[in-house]
Amino acid sequence: MTNIAKSRLTQAQLDAHWMAYTGNRQFKKDPRIITAASGHYYTDLDGRKIFDGLSGLWTCGLGHSVPAINEAVAEQVKTLDYSPAFQFGHEKSFLLAEQITQFMPEGLNRIFFTGSGSESVDTALKVARAYWRKKGMGTKTKFIGRAKGYHGASVSGFSVGGIPANRTLYGQGLESYHLPHTQVPGTEFSKGMAEQGKERAEDLINLITMHDASNIAAVIVEPMSGSAGVIVPPQGYLKRLREICDQHNILLIFDEVITAFGRMGAKTGADAFGVVPDAITMAKQVTNGVIPMGAVAFKQEIYDTFMDTGGQDYMLEIPHGYTYSAHPIACAAGLASLGEIKKQGLIERVSNMSAAWENSVHQLKGASSMITDIRNYGFAAGITIAPMGNEPAKRPFQIAMAMWDKGYYVRYGADTIQLAPPFTTEQSEIDSVINALGETIKQQS
Ligand SMILES: Cc1ncc(COP(=O)(O)O)c(C=O)c1O
Repeated sequence: MTNIAKSRLTQAQLDAHWMAYTGNRQFKKDPRIITAASGHYYTDLDGRKIFDGLSGLWTCGLGHSVPAINEAVAEQVKTLDYSPAFQFGHEKSFLLAEQITQFMPEGLNRIFFTGSGSESVDTALKVARAYWRKKGMGTKTKFIGRAKGYHGASVSGFSVGGIPANRTLYGQGLESYHLPHTQVPGTEFSKGMAEQGKERAEDLINLITMHDASNIAAVIVEPMSGSAGVIVPPQGYLKRLREICDQHNILLIFDEVITAFGRMGAKTGADAFGVVPDAITMAKQVTNGVIPMGAVAFKQEIYDTFMDTGGQDYMLEIPHGYTYSAHPIACAAGLASLGEIKKQGLIERVSNMSAAWENSVHQLKGASSMITDIRNYGFAAGITIAPMGNEPAKRPFQIAMAMWDKGYYVRYGADTIQLAPPFTTEQSEIDSVINALGETIKQQS
């Protein structure tokens, strides 16, 4: 593999690309180059078929090279490749915004488009601060995130995020404080939502006592943490966060960049867990990963606050947005992607198959003493691997590399292996990836 990959790319070419969230030195010694993707499989430079065990980066729930999306994109490029995002519009953004509202909880019906998950988080946080200022409460500027949370790579994202490795290099961020994560000892190998852990929401009261609600703009959490290794909320936890936010006049933002549009076997994490936040950030699955796009759904009252205080109607109600907000090609991809999710009944499919998925994933328990926890929800699972000395990330890396060699792409991050297959995955494919993973972990033991 290695030599062929190297024979197609020169060292200078490999060196020229500073790759994102990648061990560049290791990768460039042993490049893993993907050349094509179709359905649930990638093809690599050697022509090998590789099962996509994480739907890209939680992006491609519909699988790859979906004809309806490809055709919509091709048609859009021919018709309207770009139109200015500011002061002028094109039809598809309005159609897509309305489509997105159909996936959102009732009342979250005002959609702001961005170019990525990180921009969606930035947008939600900026709007939260500006909203309170518009309400005459300009001191409400601090944010509360959660340990192990991931909210993107921007300055605001690392500030509210709670994965230490993503924060340590970057110095001062936005003023943010963190709730504890919800991986409570004793809940290992819980299926779905753990029974214990709800009490960790009470820490929000301590943070409010410390900083005062008059200084706090918003709490931001992923309803289910993806990047930290599929941390499912304990029963009643999100509901309790909602109650505390309501009692203290603090906005609650759900970061649903991973969980929106089907991954949970529900329209959103909010829908799956029965809690309605004030804003939902989304990206990834909205275009099935085909074109970068993100969005934030806001409660109408937030939108109305800006409209009501916007001054003359030709003036901007909020000086915020991106050159690629509501990009016409992304909107075309989004309409086709959401249309296919509905047409193929994929949310129902994930919901119906999630018990089988849960069973399959939990069969790994006992495959090796290195597996210290397994968590799952919808079509997602996280497997914690015991650290190798003081190197918790090493074994997951070795396991993922061995899986790649066997023809399976799985994600490794910190001390976990993460799985999130396409929504259309067959049981035989689930069996195949789980068996291969069990075997691989045993071999690494
Ligand atoms: C919950 C969450 N928020 C934000 C982001 C950042 O999205 P992007 O990488 O598109 O900027 C991610 C990416 O994985 C995510 O999982």
